[in-house]
Amino acid sequence: MSQPHDFPSLTIVDHPLVRHKLTLLRDRATPTKLFKELVDEIAMLMAYEATRDLILEPVGVETPLEHATGWAVRGKKLTLVPILRAGLGMVEGILRLMPSARVGHIGLYRDHDTLEPVDYYFKVPGDASERDFLLLDPMLATGGSAAAAVSSLKRAGATRIRFLCLVAAPEGVARLTREHPDVPVLAASLDRELNEHGYILPGLGDAGDRLFGTR
Ligand code: PRP
Ligand code: URA
Repeated sequence: MSQPHDFPSLTIVDHPLVRHKLTLLRDRATPTKLFKELVDEIAMLMAYEATRDLILEPVGVETPLEHATGWAVRGKKLTLVPILRAGLGMVEGILRLMPSARVGHIGLYRDHDTLEPVDYYFKVPGDASERDFLLLDPMLATGGSAAAAVSSLKRAGATRIRFLCLVAAPEGVARLTREHPDVPVLAASLDRELNEHGYILPGLGDAGDRLFGTR
């Protein structure tokens, strides 16, 4: 993992497997089926790092030979919150690591002209103030969607939120960390910049369209 100097709350998960799979994901020739599998696998690898500081408590366990002390993650189940649509692609891989995690959903899309987020759905567990949230979206471009999603979670009572994305633009990291300096951001890559249409360069194109085969 590495921490770019410009963004103290950003961590880049630069494990060799993540970098390898992200390169395949960027390839315009990668078909939908493989794209989906890669998003799933990268999300799982990143979740391993994103949950590194979960708090544990000691628990007793009976082995076949004797009583021992083991460890369990403390508190309520972690909650995954994909931003629809593309965040959905990250859920299953993470659930394979944490099968009892809860899953909320936030529906947002970016208006084509203003690039500002338009929200259409919100559902998370009721006891938000007692939970750790992993907010999921493969793309952090202008940062408008992620910042709006974090604001919605906070309005619902959430205080412990981490944002997990695959590709981030400097503009998006700057906006998200300016509006929500308390939210750690994990990305597989910090890319160069946005183009005039708000797409990340070099990026991977439209994540939702590539995941679901729409265009
Ligand atoms: C994409 C992406 C993010 C958002 C990022 O979603 O999945 O949610 O854009 O852009 P931003 O940082 O500039 O807000 P999109 O709006 O295309 O919706 P979709 O997933 O439903 O296609
Ligand atoms: N949304 C995407 O899916 N890709 C981008 O490059 C920017 C926003």
